[in-house]
Amino acid sequence: MDALEAIAGRHGVLRFRPDPVEPAKIEAVLAAAVAAPSPVNLQPWAFVVVTDPALTRQVARYLVEVQERRVFTELLGLPEGYIARLMGLYAGFDLTPCFVFVCLETKVAFARPEHEAVLRQWHLVSLGAAMQNLMVAATALGLGTRWFGGFALDEGGGALREMLGIPQRVEIIAATPLGYHDEPPKPRPTQEMADVTGFSRGDSRALGRLLRGKLALEEVVHRERW
Ligand SMILES: Cc1cc2nc3c(=O)[nH]c(=O)nc-3n(C[C@H](O)[C@H](O)[C@H](O)COP(=O)(O)O)c2cc1C
Repeated sequence: MDALEAIAGRHGVLRFRPDPVEPAKIEAVLAAAVAAPSPVNLQPWAFVVVTDPALTRQVARYLVEVQERRVFTELLGLPEGYIARLMGLYAGFDLTPCFVFVCLETKVAFARPEHEAVLRQWHLVSLGAAMQNLMVAATALGLGTRWFGGFALDEGGGALREMLGIPQRVEIIAATPLGYHDEPPKPRPTQEMADVTGFSRGDSRALGRLLRGKLALEEVVHRERW
């Protein structure tokens, strides 16, 4: 699979077979992650890989719980019945054999106070690049991933910090399950979200339109001038 195929073939996967992921494949996706660019090559990342079944189950349950309570209920304000339907997508998630956490670890503090905010922004986009590299590499190796970030709405994922012994100076930014899946990953189902009234914030039609699928290039690319 070439790079473009892997990029196009990456889709969020929520249902995994319990088969463990080979350590060499885990190494390979981590190597892809750290191949990402970062400002001044500061490499502001640290990864936590969880494969112990007792821990993966705990992590999975936590992520699903946060999804329901923080993301669907509090952030999106979805109606209860609809949440119940969406939660079906996460059934079986606790069989996920591996999780990778992408964390922000600043290794050298050299920014002047007035540059701190920019440096943090650069660090975060570098982590995004690392995460995307990881997910695309996983796709190329036949593994499924899905970006999780909802835990940030739950006291920055403090429960995860405790579960995984992550020190306070390290910030958890993103997580993904990693594993084999039976169904070929497919684009997110076209949901009738657009028709669901009851979004508590903003323009529900605009949100619904986004949820239907990816925006076309001509909607987001401006040629010559905006
Ligand atoms: C920053 C970020 C945070 C996300 N957080 C979550 C999350 O908490 N739970 C979840 O199920 N999906 C999460 N996603 C996955 C998106 O919902 C998903 O990428 C999007 O719907 C597009 O689908 P695709 O990944 O299959 O292309 C997140 C994605 C990003 C980039």
